[in-house]
Amino acid sequence: MHPIQYQGQPLRCRDNESLLDAFVRTGVAIDFSCKSGVCRRCLVKVVDGAAPAEAARSLPPHLQSAGYVLACQCKPAGPLSLAPKSPADMLTPCMLVRREHGADGSSILWFETATELAFTAGQSAQVFDGPFPAPIHVRLSGRDDAQGLIQAEVAHDVLPQAAFSDDALFGADFQLRGPFPVEPEGEAPLPAPDLALWHLLDHGRLVRRVLEAFYRKVYADPLLQPFFERVSMERVIGKQYAFLMQCMTGDKVYIGERPKNAHHWMVIPDTLFEHRQRLMAQAQRELGLTPEQMAGWARYEEHFRADIVKHAPWPRRMGGQVVETERYDSVTLDEGTVCDHCGAEIAAGSTVRFHVRLGQVGCPSCERG
Ligand code: HEM
Ligand code: FES
Repeated sequence: MHPIQYQGQPLRCRDNESLLDAFVRTGVAIDFSCKSGVCRRCLVKVVDGAAPAEAARSLPPHLQSAGYVLACQCKPAGPLSLAPKSPADMLTPCMLVRREHGADGSSILWFETATELAFTAGQSAQVFDGPFPAPIHVRLSGRDDAQGLIQAEVAHDVLPQAAFSDDALFGADFQLRGPFPVEPEGEAPLPAPDLALWHLLDHGRLVRRVLEAFYRKVYADPLLQPFFERVSMERVIGKQYAFLMQCMTGDKVYIGERPKNAHHWMVIPDTLFEHRQRLMAQAQRELGLTPEQMAGWARYEEHFRADIVKHAPWPRRMGGQVVETERYDSVTLDEGTVCDHCGAEIAAGSTVRFHVRLGQVGCPSCERG
């Protein structure tokens, strides 16, 4: 028997049993079709542990190096922690066939793909390794099945029409990353409480100790630290503790934003989400948590993945209305304050500019540049 974690769910794979068979036996929802290593629908990503080499042998190098295996071809020989496939790792080679000019200066690209690309209109994707100097974001908008072409829209400020002649674009190869999911409507409801787990975590005492060790790692981590620049560690630990306590016990102790709004501006791909999960698992192991305690906790974090993972910021929503936070506004100060950029005093009565999300205020001198 080999212990497996998939999206925080524990299961056991029998000797000589494939991961896919273990998923189906234990009722784990997983996409699959051929069961013979051809269709690649059963791709899963190894986050921790070593999978047998043959499980990845038929995959292209970029999927192998990102840790992917085919669940139907993988007979584990030890513990594995797995995640679903991430759109950011899915690359499709493409060739540009035509560019049309939209009325508002936008462009419409028509292209062929080397392999089947499944998407629904409105999903976004990234174009790179092509004729454009930097990766661009496109909105996949339709397909022409008769000609075997896919259509994508590009905003005019991303791809200035004058800069790229239609002749130069014809036949150009590029890679398409994605497609990325559209912002889910609504947000995940709070998960069902699990008082037994809270008790197992020493009535929350272990949660607090792990969070203290975990956030020390986060604040020292080059990938995660930048998100926390303006937040004190004590505040985040306190918020996170209250949030987990409310989730696990059902007691209404948390005052703060639900994960979707709290992280609305943070671009967090699956890879970063999983990097954070690894730091969390390290902190939990250091404090001696058992696999049962770790799996129970991981279920609660995994529950919010779809509300946190994204490839472009989402707007903040209040009561169904979009609140535009990525902009500046100005205010006349009732009381004096200091400039958040240079520390100079700003007198009461001054009119200052501030960034709506950050709340950062600039003095007239900093504003002048
Ligand atoms: C890579 C993944 C993540 C990153 C980079 C991240 C980052 C952050 C940051 C920077 C804050 C502070 C926001 C502020 O006070 O302005 C925060 C708050 C918070 N995060 Fe995360 N987070 C991640 C994953 C998660 C997960 C998986 C959960 C689910 C348990 C979660 C739950 C929360 C909660 C409840 C808050 C407090 C919200 C508030 O202050 O109102 N985060 N996160
Ligand atoms: S189910 Fe088709 S490759 Fe695994």
